[in-house]
Amino acid sequence: MATVTPLFHISELTENSAKGLELNQRKLFAVSRQGQVYLYENRCPHKGIPLEWLPDTFLDTEKQYIQCSTHGALFTIHQGLCIAGPCSGASLTSVACEIIDGQVCIRE
Ligand code: FES
Repeated sequence: MATVTPLFHISELTENSAKGLELNQRKLFAVSRQGQVYLYENRCPHKGIPLEWLPDTFLDTEKQYIQCSTHGALFTIHQGLCIAGPCSGASLTSVACEIIDGQVCIRE
């Protein structure tokens, strides 16, 4: 049976922004885009390290893509697919989430 764990209230994540999280020492991040929330493991497929170098900074300057701060790989927000950079064609690991009573929850 799936376990649902609340992560944060949706009001903490404004549209076109991102938020880093830690759940049981597991690094994750969430991105809000067009009313949807996307949740990924915070691990670049290139070197297996976290994507950000400043807290909650996961998007490029135009806020069109998720960007790895180490070598600049760009990932689509809705699929986590790398479309430019050293791991082009690889993907971030997506994590199932849903919003329940305003809480963004992880389901696994
Ligand atoms: S570690 Fe992310 S692009 Fe190299």
